[in-house]
This record gives sequence, structure tokens and C-alpha cells, in this order.
Amino acid sequence: MANLEGTAASTANEDVLLSLNDIRRDYVLGETRVEALKGVSLRIHRGEFVAIWGPSGSGKSSLMNILGLVDAPTSGEVSLEGTPIAKLTDNALSDLRSRKVGFVFQSFNLIPVLSALENVMVPLQIQGVGAAEVRERASQALKDVGLENQASARPDKMSGGQRQRVAIARALVTSPSIVVADEPTANLDSENSYMVVKLMRELNRTRRVTFIFTTHDPRLLDLVDRKLLLKDGLLQTDEAVR
Ligand SMILES: Nc1ncnc2c1ncn2[C@@H]1O[C@H](COP(=O)(O)OP(=O)(O)O)[C@@H](O)[C@H]1O
Ligand SMILES: [Mg+2]
Repeated sequence: MANLEGTAASTANEDVLLSLNDIRRDYVLGETRVEALKGVSLRIHRGEFVAIWGPSGSGKSSLMNILGLVDAPTSGEVSLEGTPIAKLTDNALSDLRSRKVGFVFQSFNLIPVLSALENVMVPLQIQGVGAAEVRERASQALKDVGLENQASARPDKMSGGQRQRVAIARALVTSPSIVVADEPTANLDSENSYMVVKLMRELNRTRRVTFIFTTHDPRLLDLVDRKLLLKDGLLQTDEAVR
């Protein structure tokens, strides 16, 4: 295939955050082998707001799991801020992931028995941050997504759009370099989908956090800097939007 690397990147600065080189991901199920990614090369720059779109089964989640450092490719190289991931021990990798990557999920993945604020506090508590600082940073993150008045609400009392905003606050509270969001709007109506992507866009600008999200809804692509079309495990296009 054509080498698409750098086509959109030239509009951004040259500060490479994540670099993927010829990534393949096979899943072996008994006698069958599914080639989910067939050689993807890609650079994500600091501060970018990127969408990966394409039909179901095209490999978006497989690629996001590799970008978020939760899955290792069958072959190919992944580097985060210049550090080759394959060389890290399991402990070093999970430490790097918890410091540098925030995640937002399709099904929100909030803890139902905790309040909105307590959900946002969890990643900091896992990192061993002191109680006062945990509360202060979590409160600020909730404020950043416009939900300071919902701090004590349980997720089941919130709308889908509000739940996803809590999840975005939880992803941002550790000040990650990149937020990886796989189909963050798949369980939302079109109005809330647009609001969630618009919020991520604002946070991308104000907090200088890099975002990468997947969608199969082309209407959400209006808000991005760069869109990558994935089909059959290969990047088809890599377009700068403005
Ligand atoms: N854990 C897995 N085991 C086996 N096959 C998988 C697994 N995850 C994904 N696949 C297959 O890999 C291909 C790409 O899937 P996926 O990355 O989930 O694409 P998308 O997110 O675009 O729908 C599909 O054919 C899917 O069935
Ligand atoms: Mg998927």
C-alpha cells in the first residue's frame, strides 16, 4: 500500500507522541487466523485531535488497544515519546500506561456504587496520590467537564451524556499525554454524541491533551484535525481536515 505517513502530520508540529511502524495483529482461534491489522504505520503528534473511522470489523478496536498500550502487536514497533514499548518489563509498561494514557469506553465503565466524584478519584487513588490532592484534582476535572454540581450523584441517576462526561473527567484526572476513546459515542444519541466530541475537542485545546477516538459516524468527523480511514486492517486515507 502507499505510505500515508506524514500526509496530515506535516500540518502539526513535529513533536511525535506515539509512533507505530508496520503494525500487524493476528488473532489465532484454533485453526483459523484473523488478520485484524495488516501493516499499519502511523504517527500521532502532541496536541492532535484525531479520529479513526471505518466500518465494523475494520480493526479500529485492535488498533486502539495497541495505541493505548493494552495490547501488543503480533509484529511491528510501537514507541511512546520515543520509548520503544517492546523493551519494557510488564511493570514498567503498566506504570507508563497509567501515567501517560487515559481511556474512555463505549459503555462508560463507571463504578455504580460510587458517586461521580468518587469515580473520578479512583485513578489517582491507584497512583497513591494523597487524599486532599485526590479530592482537589478530581473536583477540578469534574468542573472541567461541566459536572461540578453532579459530584455526589451516582451514575445510574445520570444521563448517558453525563456519564460519558464523568468518564472523560476520570480519563483526564491523571493528566495523561493522550486519551484513547474507542467508540465513545456508540451508546449515545446524536445530540449527546456531538456534545461529547465537542467537549473532548475543547479539552484538547484548553488542556493540550492529545485525543484519539474511533467512530463509525461520519457526522462526528467535522470536529477533528485529522481523520484516518481504516478498512480491512489497513489505513486507506489519512486526511488533515483543516
Ligand atoms: N479477541 C479477538 N479474537 C479473535 N478475533 C478478534 C478479536 N478481536 C477482534 N477480532 C477480529 O478482528 C477483526 C477486527 O476487529 P476489531 O478490531 O474489533 O474491529 P472494529 O473495532 O473496527 O469493529 C474482526 O474480524 C474481529 O472479528
Ligand atoms: Mg470496535
